[in-house]
Amino acid sequence: MNTPKIRIAARDLRLEYRDETRGEHHLAVQNLSLDVRENEFLCVVGPSGCGKSTLISAIAGFLKPVAGELTLDGKRIEGPGADRGVVFQEYALLPWMTVLDNVALGPKLKGVPKTERHDRARHYLAMANLSDAAAKFPHELSGGMKQRTAVARTLANEPQVMLMDEPFAAIDAQTRMTLQEELLRIWSKARITVLFVTHSVEEACFLGDRVAILTPGPGRVKEIVDVPIARDRRDWATLGADIEFARIRDYVLASVRGVDGKAA
Ligand SMILES: Nc1ncnc2c1ncn2[C@@H]1O[C@H](COP(=O)(O)OP(=O)(O)OP(=O)(O)O)[C@@H](O)[C@H]1O
Ligand SMILES: [Mg+2]
Repeated sequence: MNTPKIRIAARDLRLEYRDETRGEHHLAVQNLSLDVRENEFLCVVGPSGCGKSTLISAIAGFLKPVAGELTLDGKRIEGPGADRGVVFQEYALLPWMTVLDNVALGPKLKGVPKTERHDRARHYLAMANLSDAAAKFPHELSGGMKQRTAVARTLANEPQVMLMDEPFAAIDAQTRMTLQEELLRIWSKARITVLFVTHSVEEACFLGDRVAILTPGPGRVKEIVDVPIARDRRDWATLGADIEFARIRDYVLASVRGVDGKAA
């Protein structure tokens, strides 16, 4: 069997927030080790405050580790880069620009000529089922459409790694299920590596090849659970009543809640 290529490697990571003026620091992540494999969809779950967003910030290059190692393709992460795209819970679309221009913004900032960047934006809008919304402005979109625009905008930068921090948290349950299915469809076409943080164990098990469970803060990896459910069965109509899916979800839920009898 081929050993999968490792894209992101965290080794004994320690992440802190420092307040130099008050001379205080807060330990958010401790001894965290995690590998993210090329083209995998890895989900991260854990109790509120355990350091999930902090981990995303560090991988995105916004926060420097205090100790340990954090690498992308074997190179230490020193700061933000176009090789990583981030999608946050808030969509932060620019209200004065059309959907097409919002999606084309990243390529524009990189100096991609207009026709080419608009072609690229249209390509990713089509992937996100938003072709008809290209000329609209953000205030004319539903929450789910805004979130899909944000995903398309990140993909238009053609990152190798997409970091997502609870992107669907503020979206109603029906739309959220549709977005989860669409994200998987986009991911299977775009062939990128995704690290997806969520509160929802069900969402994590639906989306992920693997689910990493963090301990309560300061977080480290408690365990990693494989989700051996075929990709062509990952839709809610199939998995909603699937016994194997329910078993994995219940196992992860017990682990996150700390009621599985294992030490954290
Ligand atoms: N800017 C900051 N300054 C100081 N402490 C912070 C800052 N941001 C987060 N923290 C602290 O770091 C710890 C980890 O926070 P983080 O936001 O990473 O948690 P999380 O796992 O994403 O939680 P949630 O599930 O609620 O989003 C928490 O104890 C939090 O209070
Ligand atoms: Mg968070």
